[in-house]
Amino acid sequence: MLTSGSTIPALRAVDSSLALWREGYLFVTKRCNEIGADAFRTRIMMREVIFMRGPAAAEQFYRPGRFTRRAAIPRTALALLQDWGSVQTLDGEAHHHRKQMFMDMMDAAGLGRAISIFRAQWQAALRRAPTRVRLHDLAREALTYTALLWCGLPLDRADPKRRTAELAAMIEGAGSFGPGHLRARLMRLSCEAWARGMIEAIRRDELPLQDNCPAAQIALHRDLSGAELAPEVAAVELINLLRPIVAVARYVTFVGHALHVHSNAAEHLAAGAPDAEVEAFVQEVRRYYPFFPMVGGRVLQPFSWCGHSFGAGDWVLLDLYGTNHHPDAWQDAEVFDPHRFRGWQGDGYGFIPQGGGGFITGHRCPGEWLTIGLMVEAVRQLLATHYTVPEQDLRIAMNRLPALPESGFVMELPPTP
Ligand code: HEM
Repeated sequence: MLTSGSTIPALRAVDSSLALWREGYLFVTKRCNEIGADAFRTRIMMREVIFMRGPAAAEQFYRPGRFTRRAAIPRTALALLQDWGSVQTLDGEAHHHRKQMFMDMMDAAGLGRAISIFRAQWQAALRRAPTRVRLHDLAREALTYTALLWCGLPLDRADPKRRTAELAAMIEGAGSFGPGHLRARLMRLSCEAWARGMIEAIRRDELPLQDNCPAAQIALHRDLSGAELAPEVAAVELINLLRPIVAVARYVTFVGHALHVHSNAAEHLAAGAPDAEVEAFVQEVRRYYPFFPMVGGRVLQPFSWCGHSFGAGDWVLLDLYGTNHHPDAWQDAEVFDPHRFRGWQGDGYGFIPQGGGGFITGHRCPGEWLTIGLMVEAVRQLLATHYTVPEQDLRIAMNRLPALPESGFVMELPPTP
């Protein structure tokens, strides 16, 4: 319920769906700048919602137990992204227990293994690539092979080409409606059927797996009652590892874009640059470029903020992109400047490209360190690769969700001997 005594201003428009669709990543920032506040009330698809941005808003949003993710994003996006039964739809103890399973995969050994697989798969994808290739395609292919191998799934049972197309379709279709979305839903069904088959094969001990590989951890995971996950839920969680690893290809494309367009900020990054310098560059890519626009929550525990009473069930959308560009949190927020991350101590609320707050007690992305590690390796690989950048459309439309340079970042590679 939007209370009339609220100090959070309400927009005059009856419904803001069209404006959100037209303005995409910039919708919240524009409105907040117009009204001089970090939160406002409006309607989306005629449903009342509060949009918020900025570190103070994120701190409220990420208080443990305060919000659920259930019924908080459009069903169309949920079906292609986290899906029903996944960790993101859980709350309380059940969530913490399932989330711990994901966090256990992200220890130093697991991350190191992922990076060395990616290094080898990048090289292999580069050898297979035509001389003119879109970085986005190259990275998607290398990352699909990486995701399958890291999870522990044998490539001869995985049909990597088909999986690349299916996982990519889920990512591309999440922000759309109509035929593109329907096609992605069909491809998701096919991927789920395959993933269920993999889970069942692991449980029947039919796959030659390394101990404790992520696919086995999911297949053999027990919930709080001691029961295995239903095969369809385990399949959803397996896809929740594969799909976002493939989605890192977008960030890799932004890395290529940044190395080229912000070349002055990359001058010091010659091959062999210290990890801290490469990591600062990667963090600035995650801050500056548009990826996950916002996260939705429904109030579980009522609270007050900015003189507004948030009641159980109220719908809130937290602007991730706008928070990463908030003028109070970032000096010259619209300038691409990796130096701002030199010696940076971390901030769970002002820098939230993959969510904020705690990992176990909240819904913050468990794949954040893996994402950073893969991007650091991508910077190193791109710096070591000989390529030129032909004339192309490198603009990034801020109303296309998820965003990407128009051309997908085309590179010319030297012919392989
Ligand atoms: C490609 C870059 C990525 C981006 C931009 C991203 C972004 C996000 C965001 C915004 C959330 C929701 C946070 C919230 O609800 O508060 C999330 C959750 C999640 N992400 Fe990522 N992510 C990425 C990569 C990954 C990777 C590599 C993995 C796993 C290998 C992963 C697995 C997950 C899972 C399982 C959740 C649900 C967590 C929960 O509900 O507790 N993501 N991610």
